Amino acid sequence: MRPRAFLLVVVTAAMLTGCSKTAPEAAVAPGTPVPSPGGAGDDTTATKVFEDRILPIFKSPDPSSCARCHLASVDIKDYILPDAKDTFLALRDQGLIDLAKPEDSKILNLINRGADDPKGAGLISAKKQKTEYEAFAAWIKACAADPAIKNAPKPDKAPALATKPVEVVRHARKDQMLESFEANVWSLRFRCMNCHTEGTPQNDKLVKENGARVAWFKKGGPEATMEYLLASKLIDTDNPEKSLLLTKPLGDVKHGGGIKIVVGDQGYKQIRAWVEDVAAMKKGKYPKATDLPPADTGPKQFGTEAWFRLNNTPGAWNGKLLQVDVYAWDAKVSAWEKEPIATSDRVSGGGGWQHTVTLLAAAGSDRAKAWAKGKPALPAGKYLVKVYVDSEGKAKKDWKAPLGANEFVGQAEFQGQWREGYSAMTVVDAGKVAK
Ligand code: HEC
Ligand code: HEC
Repeated sequence: MRPRAFLLVVVTAAMLTGCSKTAPEAAVAPGTPVPSPGGAGDDTTATKVFEDRILPIFKSPDPSSCARCHLASVDIKDYILPDAKDTFLALRDQGLIDLAKPEDSKILNLINRGADDPKGAGLISAKKQKTEYEAFAAWIKACAADPAIKNAPKPDKAPALATKPVEVVRHARKDQMLESFEANVWSLRFRCMNCHTEGTPQNDKLVKENGARVAWFKKGGPEATMEYLLASKLIDTDNPEKSLLLTKPLGDVKHGGGIKIVVGDQGYKQIRAWVEDVAAMKKGKYPKATDLPPADTGPKQFGTEAWFRLNNTPGAWNGKLLQVDVYAWDAKVSAWEKEPIATSDRVSGGGGWQHTVTLLAAAGSDRAKAWAKGKPALPAGKYLVKVYVDSEGKAKKDWKAPLGANEFVGQAEFQGQWREGYSAMTVVDAGKVAK
């Protein structure tokens, strides 16, 4: 046993040294590692590991394991160059390789993030992650053991990786995107009247008639819904404004639910902003941090099943986009709050206007925290409604344009009960709405 064990040790040491100096292949019988003092041409040299295990990852048309948590802007391929030496120099000179402790290399940490998270178990990405990790670990180890590679001088012109700025990487992280998804799309589920909310009686009925595809607001919550939509055909990344997520509720494409939004209304604005952002990320349209859309500084939005109705609306409002902003009474200072606590908009019908309200609270405020934790609802009490009517079709011309002073038709004070449900609307007579 002894001599054999000894031989094994020698082989291992030889495999890790002198990988740049390739011994004549012919001298080595296939599969027989031969210890040689000056370096070995066996299949564990850095170059060979690179060719056998790293290049296939680089050439694969499939997204890497990073896609599990990063929608875009990051792929393990961005950390690989066609040439082994270039790849090494680029990673080394960016501090991504730790030559003293190869297993602590930053690139390995990036690859291995979430590997022990049970949520990832069984996913295709978990298998990919293991392959990528092991390939890089073996290659870095081989490089670190090769003085010629390890000590290669810093080139005058360092080979550049295709990695993106950290801000751009952050923007396209799925956990970061979730916030904007919740604000823009998840908050709309009541506006879509539960027709698409999995597990509701309305949706159960529609699933029987139309199939599981109508249950796209997932029971699992915003994250599950976002994952579903991102993988679905409902987002058109080439023409975001043609996404079914917009064209169905617009009625541009035949929709089982009829016309549910119009160009420029709040629902349209929110869905459009989100699909535009997703498309831009996926198409690499944010190369620099300054290309990113401005941070959302608006209030947090919370969809509710509380309905608000304006009775006896004048004929002139008929068919026009009508927006209501609701303000709460602040008893402490005996004044209306400065920012609306609820909003809603929709095209007005004949004789009346009604819709579910979306609650608004400044990000980080106590109100926002309470609504995020519990069920968002307005207390009964004194409120003010400001009404805006888009008589000139401003929203249709520019979907980003907010309704403002030009569209303001008046306001009215009222007592709000804010009970939930279609049959328990909070009602205000439009005759009371005055400037
Ligand atoms: C399990 C989820 C997950 C996976 C898989 C994942 N990342 Fe990340 N990544 C994150 C999170 C979360 C952060 C933010 C960490 C922080 O800010 O502390 C992040 C941050 C980053 C950053 C920003 C810089 C840094 O050092 O934090 C880069 C670059 C990055 N990841 C690259 C990758 C690459 C490349 C892959 C695939 C090989 C990958 N990530 C796979 C979750 C993941
Ligand atoms: C009254 C019920 C109802 C309402 C409200 C409703 N829908 Fe629908 N929707 C349907 C039905 C039924 C279908 C399936 C038939 C079809 O594809 O048109 C559907 C299909 C869709 C689809 C296609 C799903 C797929 O995978 O094929 C999308 C996207 C969609 N609706 C978006 C919306 C949005 C967004 C809203 C709210 C702003 C909304 N719908 C409101 C009933 C509704």
